Amino acid sequence: MAEPIDFSATRGLEECMDGPCSYEELRDCLRHLAWLNQLTRAHRPVLQWVERVADSQSGRDRPLRIVDVGCGYGDMLRSIERWASQRGVAVELVGADVNANAVRVAREASPATSRITWVHATCAFARKLPTPIW
Ligand SMILES: C[S@@+](CC[C@H](N)C(=O)[O-])C[C@H]1O[C@@H](n2cnc3c(N)ncnc32)[C@H](O)[C@@H]1O
Repeated sequence: MAEPIDFSATRGLEECMDGPCSYEELRDCLRHLAWLNQLTRAHRPVLQWVERVADSQSGRDRPLRIVDVGCGYGDMLRSIERWASQRGVAVELVGADVNANAVRVAREASPATSRITWVHATCAFARKLPTPIW
């Protein structure tokens, strides 16, 4: 069994990602994270959950609304959009990020055909949405 990682030495250190950095630096970092997500199949459990929700809601008269708070590169939502398109499931997808540059990165990484809405906002935005997420 692997030894637990000791993070105590990192306590108090600033997370570089949340510190000021250029658009290009953030874009490269988020792109790298998206690559890691792909490598580790990080989207899979979320897609399985979305599939279960969609199945339990079949017959609904409005789209499934999913908000990704802290969307970063936006790759999770683009995966959901591809899945929904293949399955013919109506979705309304919103990506929110507190960092305006991340919102720009997510938008620029999306194909012109994408209908995902990208917003510069914090998690407080999601709490104010008028209707439940699903
Ligand atoms: C480590 S990245 C992860 C990106 C993506 N969710 C992923 O898993 O690859 C975290 C993102 O959350 C954003 N973030 C951090 N705090 C936030 C908040 N309170 N509201 C919205 N976005 C936030 C950061 O700007 C950053 O883009």
